[in-house]
Amino acid sequence: MQDTNMQQGNILVTGGAGYIGSHTALALLEAGYEVVVLDNLINASKESLVRVEQITGRSLTFIEGDVRDRACLDQLFSEHAIHAVIHFAGLKAVGESVEQPLAYYDANVNGSVTLCQAMEQAGVFRLVFSSSATVYGPDAPVPYQETMPRGRTSNPYGASKSIVEQVLEDVVKSDERWSVALLRYFNPIGAHPSGQLGEDPQGIPNNLMPYIAQVAVGRRDALTVFGNDYATADGTCVRDYLHVMDLAEGHVGAVGHLNQPGVHVYNLGTGQGLSVLEMVKAFERVSERPIPYQFAPRREGDLAAFWADPHKAQQELGWQARRNLDDMMIDTWRWQRQNPHGYRTDNSDTPLGM
Ligand code: NAD
Ligand code: WQD
Repeated sequence: MQDTNMQQGNILVTGGAGYIGSHTALALLEAGYEVVVLDNLINASKESLVRVEQITGRSLTFIEGDVRDRACLDQLFSEHAIHAVIHFAGLKAVGESVEQPLAYYDANVNGSVTLCQAMEQAGVFRLVFSSSATVYGPDAPVPYQETMPRGRTSNPYGASKSIVEQVLEDVVKSDERWSVALLRYFNPIGAHPSGQLGEDPQGIPNNLMPYIAQVAVGRRDALTVFGNDYATADGTCVRDYLHVMDLAEGHVGAVGHLNQPGVHVYNLGTGQGLSVLEMVKAFERVSERPIPYQFAPRREGDLAAFWADPHKAQQELGWQARRNLDDMMIDTWRWQRQNPHGYRTDNSDTPLGM
């Protein structure tokens, strides 16, 4: 999968076969970068990368490996001249992190530390890290602004993101060659407009949008809405949903700005909050399919409402979310309709990589 066209340099994308990583790999190729993906395929399929190559008409380099494997990283850096790293690799299921905290701290914290050690040895000091709005904690006033302190986190997943942010701040303080962007994502949804790339959760989806899409396509009977007694307009939780292609383009923008040393923190969101029921209605309108739902008690750990103040990314990166709610719904539905079982061809819910 090698490509000889070297316009903008090689970007290492860890976790690049996953949901956000594959869309970002595509956006990087379209922007003229070379892409090297490192992924252990624990929550992804190589098929996503085959499709990235088909859509872009460009090739990328795929290395099956683990970010905790120092020897693998050293070999990768010795064989490829890496300009910058975008670090998506990690585990992301909040509930699972409560049951398996060691697995989460190992993948997310140890993985990030090992990656930074290998980068330092290879003399690569530009890093974009996938952080999360969860680091603001439950007590921050909305909209969240980057100047607010990190809050207390209520689960090991969120804690792992806060810890890695802290680690990266300390690393940057220790050596002025580092330039690190901490991108705090809000709620990414949607899919590439081709319908060929999208979110493909294993088993029962934890997140709202894939659950709705699987109800629409007949894989699930009905959505369970967790809580209708929140202090919001319709009683359901409010989140800042953004299109995954906007998020992907935010990474391209951040890589292009890794010239100044230091830590640069950006919210990537739309600045608009939408409730669970508003999302259901929007999906029904676009898909022309009913989404049956029932109310259930609140899900532990959910906050009533939060959204981003996205102005800093707009001012400093020139980035803002361009796609609207209909785009998010239309693209989610196209992906789910064309790929009812995601990247699997056997119509099963068998975990990927098994
Ligand atoms: P994803 O699970 O689709 O992608 C993560 C990828 O990393 C997968 O391809 C997986 O196989 C790979 N991976 C996991 N552990 C690895 C390891 N030790 N070594 C190599 N590869 C490994 O998840 P995503 O939604 O694309 O999220 C990407 C990143 O963004 C994650 O760090 C996640 O925590 C963060 N994030 C996601 C969201 C969201 O809502 N999706 C929100 C905020 C932050
Ligand atoms: C959105 C709303 C649910 C499923 C999570 C992580 C966060 C970040 C993004 C990585 C909530 C409701 C959901 C369902 C429902 N990930 N819901 N029925 O919880 O805002 O954020 O993903 O960093 O850290 O916590 O997203 O999509 O799970 O939920 O009613 O079957 O939909 O209660 O109000 P969330 P979500």
